[in-house]
Amino acid sequence: MVFIRNVQQLSVKACELKKNDVIKLQVTDLAYGGRGVAEEGGKVVFVEKGLPGDILDVRIKKVKPDYCEGVTERIIQPSPHRCEPLCQHFGICGGCRWQNYNYNMQLKFKADQLKESLMRIGGLSNPPVEPIIGAKKIYFYRNKMEFSFNRDKNNNNLLGLHQTGFFDRVFDLNKCYLQSELSNEIVKFVKDECHRLHLPAYHIRNHDGLMRFLVIRESKFDSGVLVNIVTGKDYHGYEDSIVELGKNLADRFNRIESLLWTINSKKANIAKWDMYPEKLKNGILYGRDHIYEKLGRYRFRVSADSFFQTNPYQAQILYDTVVDYGQLSGLDDVCDLYCGTGTISVYISGLVRSVVGVESVAQAVFDARINAEENGLNNVDFIVGNVEDIIFELRKFNKVILDPPRAGLHPKALEKIVEISPEIVVYVSCNPTTLARDIAGFIQNGYNLQRAVAVDMFPHTYHIESVVKLVHR
Ligand SMILES: C[S@@+](CC[C@H](N)C(=O)[O-])C[C@H]1O[C@@H](n2cnc3c(N)ncnc32)[C@H](O)[C@@H]1O
Repeated sequence: MVFIRNVQQLSVKACELKKNDVIKLQVTDLAYGGRGVAEEGGKVVFVEKGLPGDILDVRIKKVKPDYCEGVTERIIQPSPHRCEPLCQHFGICGGCRWQNYNYNMQLKFKADQLKESLMRIGGLSNPPVEPIIGAKKIYFYRNKMEFSFNRDKNNNNLLGLHQTGFFDRVFDLNKCYLQSELSNEIVKFVKDECHRLHLPAYHIRNHDGLMRFLVIRESKFDSGVLVNIVTGKDYHGYEDSIVELGKNLADRFNRIESLLWTINSKKANIAKWDMYPEKLKNGILYGRDHIYEKLGRYRFRVSADSFFQTNPYQAQILYDTVVDYGQLSGLDDVCDLYCGTGTISVYISGLVRSVVGVESVAQAVFDARINAEENGLNNVDFIVGNVEDIIFELRKFNKVILDPPRAGLHPKALEKIVEISPEIVVYVSCNPTTLARDIAGFIQNGYNLQRAVAVDMFPHTYHIESVVKLVHR
């Protein structure tokens, strides 16, 4: 496994590569981020669309002092681990970049990457990494998708996903293998209806037009589907057509339990919303403002913008790993840091004496409290605040679960957790680099790394989720 930090060691003598040179290279590895890794004259070349085992003609696009970047111009000899991608949009779509790479090899890369990070950054000579937990369902696993509108050169509406590398280019989607057949049907229906009702797509560069995003959330273990139609703020004159679109959607798809119309009044091209249309309470066109998802024996409320693990099949396995690593029992008082909408807190509540979740986003805590109440729990509590600011008061916990964002722990947060001195810390991470850095911090402060495992939440992408168990010495 090669990481950017190793590049300096490899670039012992700089080679003469120039921009636009085309050279023959053998890809030997993958780098975090998904590109292939090759070497030329002692210099690392990161190759777009290169897979280990490929022999390629590569066009050099960037020459840096320590490494080069290139794109695959021609496959001379394909890797034996290449496979036929299912999706017709593969290569154009910015989504599943590794659909053409054998799934077992994807898993191997992720497991190796976790081990390598723990060794190189965590300073461990033989990290206790267990076999990766792969996904049984490698297609149609997502419960949330954000589709974008745009217009083509001839002013025709487009509805689909972003082209890889372009914030302002959208391709018309025929079929996506990530969410479900139902979701594909909804996209097609909305596109046809927008055409019939003369609802113009928003132009991402010109900032005119109306229809901006179509967000679909679909429960995998409960019944509901939530559809959120996000428009621009200049909707006046189109109200009746959007209401008609909503009515037809709800009539056609009986799994829709929540249908919303929200407004993104800002230029930034992200599927967020900051307003509702006048006269439409909470933006609800049909049904309610949330659906439900089930994990284990618990039911969770999922609103349009609340955080919920996007692969619920693997989320349950991830949480079972947390339970196993935490050795949870009825004598435990657990602190669930960075708890989001309280999913882990609720999931473990039946096994422990008490749980307190800590989360910085007030809306997420609001949802977490509702989740606890609707599941009839009385041993779960939530606090709004930054972990690094408030943990000091939470001294009574004997076990801590952490699930921070990609940046990992704030140094003050780590300091405060080790001050509470929990006997077991279970750390869930979506970034092996920051995980390894934080583990080194725990080890310096009296902890041993006892177990570690990657759980594949995102087949066909380079994203790596892991769980580790730290035990107080
Ligand atoms: C990876 S998500 C946690 C997901 C949750 N455990 C679950 O499985 O649904 C990380 C959460 O940390 C929250 N967060 C980010 N920085 C924080 C901080 N400094 N203090 C507390 N929470 C924070 C984010 O709002 C987000 O909800």
